[in-house]
Amino acid sequence: MSASPSVSPSSSGPPPEVDWAALREDARRVRHHAYAPYSGYPVGVAGLVDDGRIVVGCNVENASYGLALCAECGMISALHASGGGRLVAVACVGPDGEPLMPCGRCRQLLWEHGGPALLLATARGVVAMSDVLPDAFGAEDLTRRT
Ligand code: THU
Repeated sequence: MSASPSVSPSSSGPPPEVDWAALREDARRVRHHAYAPYSGYPVGVAGLVDDGRIVVGCNVENASYGLALCAECGMISALHASGGGRLVAVACVGPDGEPLMPCGRCRQLLWEHGGPALLLATARGVVAMSDVLPDAFGAEDLTRRT
């Protein structure tokens, strides 16, 4: 097995401009499709891909509570299912439609698919993933072997 995964190639050309209002609206809209009968806590997320696509996700829970899939998991699956690429900007919202900080596991997921420069809409404004997940573990770390 290779030491590090082959990361989806970035599209060539300048990164697309971020329409934060539209991204937040997409996140708000998709949260209505969440399957969250156990927590009653629907989450929606929308991400702008480097080729201009928008991918979305919502949380999907399970009677076996620990199997719940966060909204970000669905979005990352949609990213790959629709052709891959790198995330440029993400807006995640909770039940009230306001920004929700991704959980620790999902920060790691976002890091994998957007890296330190990925921008995230938060309650304190737009911040980079390097701020949201400092000192992150990533694919490069796998190249350090004894
Ligand atoms: N949830 C997400 O979808 N994303 C997060 O980053 C935090 C939590 C979901 C999981 C669960 O369905 C519900 O919110 C309550 O924790």
